Amino acid sequence: MNAKLVEQINIQIREEYDSGFLYLAMVGWCRRNGYPGAAHWLQLQVQEEFSHALKFFNYLANNKEVAMVLPHKQQPTEFEGLLPIFQAAMKHEKYITGKIKDLCKLADELDDKKTRQFLVWYEDEQVEEEENAQANLDLFKKFDNDFSKVDAQMAKRVISTTEDEKK
Ligand SMILES: [Fe+2]
Ligand SMILES: [Fe+2]
Repeated sequence: MNAKLVEQINIQIREEYDSGFLYLAMVGWCRRNGYPGAAHWLQLQVQEEFSHALKFFNYLANNKEVAMVLPHKQQPTEFEGLLPIFQAAMKHEKYITGKIKDLCKLADELDDKKTRQFLVWYEDEQVEEEENAQANLDLFKKFDNDFSKVDAQMAKRVISTTEDEKK
């Protein structure tokens, strides 16, 4: 596999772990501040992000490429409130979508069809992630910023990890 592509996938592994650590920091804030439902929603998202990272890691490892474990960023411990958390989550998912698009572009430029095909799963996943982030923001409008109702709704999230995501 092309060295530049391997490097960029390694950077994306770190991005996916950092996504998980960002959401984990948000879990802590939500627990401390009395939003167990939002904490539950975000906790499931942490697991998803780690599965995204591992899927990339396994792709490199299975192709006999070096999968590095790069140091992760320090995440904040404080957030401005429940709505700012989910606004930040939306912004973060859009950023990740951009990163996945960059990887697709690089795979196209290198004519690496196998990796390009592998990345389709992530393109689809980012559509879902942005939809989920938007659905959360919509709850604030739906319940007219009644945070206890938003929290109760988020508590209902069930694991959506598919078999494919675990690979
Ligand atoms: Fe992700
Ligand atoms: Fe997802």
